[in-house]
Amino acid sequence: MKIAVIQGPNLNMLGVREQNIYGPMKLEQIHSQMKDFAAQNGLEVEFFQSNLEGEIVDRIQECYGDAQGIIINAAAYTHTSIAIRDALSAVNLPAIEVHISNIHRREEFRKDNMIAPVCTSSVVGFGPFGYHLAMMGILQITSEVKAAKEMQAQTPPVQ
Ligand code: DQA
Repeated sequence: MKIAVIQGPNLNMLGVREQNIYGPMKLEQIHSQMKDFAAQNGLEVEFFQSNLEGEIVDRIQECYGDAQGIIINAAAYTHTSIAIRDALSAVNLPAIEVHISNIHRREEFRKDNMIAPVCTSSVVGFGPFGYHLAMMGILQITSEVKAAKEMQAQTPPVQ
């Protein structure tokens, strides 16, 4: 089972940017912990970070027919990007959005969220541990989807 982890603008600056909000962990450290969890749970995980909206849209589209789930922190694009929202909606995969900080407790503009309505779930305000929770969540959701599909395949059609 392949999971795509998609990180938006300025998340490559974790460990440097606003440590009082995002903490000291670097993105590579977060990804390394996610990799360990994936290995322990039989998941394949692919990481992608971009500061460019179109590249994020392209990466989401590539997931169609390739990945079984998406974990995304669209960062600032969360609050503005209809293009990323539409891409998530188009591929229609189980998707969990993560925010390191609690966006509901911050500036008013961070309360606008284009992404959440097209995601299966959101993890907000747990710091980098939120990515771990998202991995657990996607594991649960994707195995439920798989079980439902298997059940459907076994059920004989109604005459
Ligand atoms: C963020 C929250 C966004 O509002 C912000 O623009 C980010 C990071 C978070 O993970 O808390 O870049 O997505």
